[in-house]
Amino acid sequence: MTPPRTPKVPYGGDYNPEQWPHEVWDEDHRLFTRAGIDTLTVGVFSWSLTQPAEDTYDFTILDRVLDRAAAEGRQVCLATGTAALPPWLAKKYPEVNRTDFEGRRHRYGQRHTFCPSSPAYRRLSTAVAARLAERYADHPALLAWHINNEYGGTCYCELCADAFRRWLRDRYATLDALNDAWCTAFWSHRYTDWDEIEPPNALTEHWRGPDHTAFQGNTLDYFRFTTDALLGCFLAEKEVIRAHDQDTPVTTNFMGMFRPLDYHRWAPHLDFASWDSYPPLDAPPTWPALAHDLMRGLKDGAPFWLMEQTPSTTACRDVNPLRRPGELRLATFQAVAHGADAALYFQMRASRGACEKYHGAVIGHAGRDDTRVFREVADLGRELELLGGATLGARTPARTALVFDWDSWWALEISDGPSRLVRYQDTVHAYYRAAREAGADVDVIPQTADLTPYDVVLAPVLHMVKGDLADRLEAVAARGGTVLSTFLSGRVDAHDRAFLADVPGPLAPLLGIRVDEWDSRPQDVVQPVDLGESSCAARLVFEIVQPRGAEPVGTYGADFYAGTPAVTRNRFGEGEGWYVATALDQPGVDQVVRRILARHDLLGPYADHPSVESATRVAPDGTRLLFLLNHAPEPARLTAHATATDLLTGKRVDQGEPLTLDPLGTVILRTQ
Ligand code: GLA
Ligand code: ZN
Repeated sequence: MTPPRTPKVPYGGDYNPEQWPHEVWDEDHRLFTRAGIDTLTVGVFSWSLTQPAEDTYDFTILDRVLDRAAAEGRQVCLATGTAALPPWLAKKYPEVNRTDFEGRRHRYGQRHTFCPSSPAYRRLSTAVAARLAERYADHPALLAWHINNEYGGTCYCELCADAFRRWLRDRYATLDALNDAWCTAFWSHRYTDWDEIEPPNALTEHWRGPDHTAFQGNTLDYFRFTTDALLGCFLAEKEVIRAHDQDTPVTTNFMGMFRPLDYHRWAPHLDFASWDSYPPLDAPPTWPALAHDLMRGLKDGAPFWLMEQTPSTTACRDVNPLRRPGELRLATFQAVAHGADAALYFQMRASRGACEKYHGAVIGHAGRDDTRVFREVADLGRELELLGGATLGARTPARTALVFDWDSWWALEISDGPSRLVRYQDTVHAYYRAAREAGADVDVIPQTADLTPYDVVLAPVLHMVKGDLADRLEAVAARGGTVLSTFLSGRVDAHDRAFLADVPGPLAPLLGIRVDEWDSRPQDVVQPVDLGESSCAARLVFEIVQPRGAEPVGTYGADFYAGTPAVTRNRFGEGEGWYVATALDQPGVDQVVRRILARHDLLGPYADHPSVESATRVAPDGTRLLFLLNHAPEPARLTAHATATDLLTGKRVDQGEPLTLDPLGTVILRTQ
């Protein structure tokens, strides 16, 4: 399944009118019409309203919200609302409240606090989801189902401990297999009964928090178990929805690069992916872009929904800057450029009270339509109307792939040694950024993905190598492609056990190197690396590489390993295997990645304009759309690489003619 079929990009967002008087709803809809809002996400936090007591359901308000939406010609993404518990439920069934990492059973409060293994939660959440599905399956406003909200968090209660033991039995079948996988001969941990196994937390294997564990095997499996336990909650709700509604697509809103949950394990179970984009402050534009591409990769390149973004400001940070004029439009078109088939906000009208009352909203507390934010939202609404269905269902024709692997992320960041300073996202982002700024479209894919469509496969910090991945990477190079990997790759198997082989383990033949030693140093130690045409700086980890067939491309400039290779290239079949043995700075990564892309003619036509992002989508009818996004606050002066028409203005530009992008401007060029 794909996202719901719509004639244009669904535009709107979270709408919680149960928080304000009915009279205001008229005004809401008047303003929605002015802003081109056609889609409302409803019911995300209304469980205590729809089920005020265990035996009482009351859909009066939700009926009104949906009927009114239908009467106004708006469509609804209907949430099951099971992310925030009603107080009566937590009181009556204390087991639903999570037990935290320190072993403390929580009491009622906040949201996203349910224990995923609680039978009471499972029974009551599926019951309310079933009622909703039964009631609204045929409602004319219903466009999509939105189960729960931003699944996440971990529970360490006894129910979860038991569920974990069952999960381990399913995975390992015998204690011998588990003891072997977790290397329990270390520190006298050999288990003789499943009941001896404890969830890894502050009371058991951990010290100094969730990333410091004595047994990585146990902690990794708890991450996987938590992923599956929460997925179980999602699947249970989806099943009861499907019993009443066979057709309406079902999703849940993800959080992009969210470490706690391996979204690749979830992906097959969603009808379409959706996510909430709140980029870190001061993140470069490639940061949200990487998350968009990761979300697009969940469903094999199918479009996803941008389920939430703020129209102006967040509230949850210590300091919450505004989106400057034009930034919202740019971020929205960036999402569309990367595969978003919907553009939704959190939220349509501001909450009056509680912790999100200062969170940005399309309509503020005063209910005005003459604010800057409302105007920008409405202008964008008009542009999306103009765009119609031109981008819907379009795919990204990427020939470059970047492997993103939650297991490697986890294993790397819970490892004692070589360095706590290496952060998975930072390294992956550096390679993604280099490829994107060079104008290459990039598919961000799981380890298991089919690699045959790609000329270039980037696999930075591929700490854990599973299954037949090494063979498939070799096949890419053998047929003429290029594979790149980096320091701290090829280190451990699926259980986080070191390969009993030279580093980089199963990647060694492809990369033509051997690594015996690695030197990790504080952030302020800089190693110059000579890349031939130029030099750059490297930090954090310096692996000492012995070429075994590979040739040096860059060399270290200092210390006892001065003159030894820091970057290598190995001929393999018709192609190449590259290895970067240290954390090069961004210019260094750029240079390496551009050399690889150039070999495959994958540098984009605007690769020399650092502020201009380009992204291609190919519509189902074959129309090729090139998005050009100017991330700079000044105009970008380009020369058109092809004759094209801008879908947003209808203006035609001929090949070789000047093409100027406004500050923070976007053009969507139809090139054929
Ligand atoms: C998340 C949630 C929303 C809201 C916003 C605020 O994405 O899903 O309910 O809390 O954050 O930024
Ligand atoms: Zn629990």
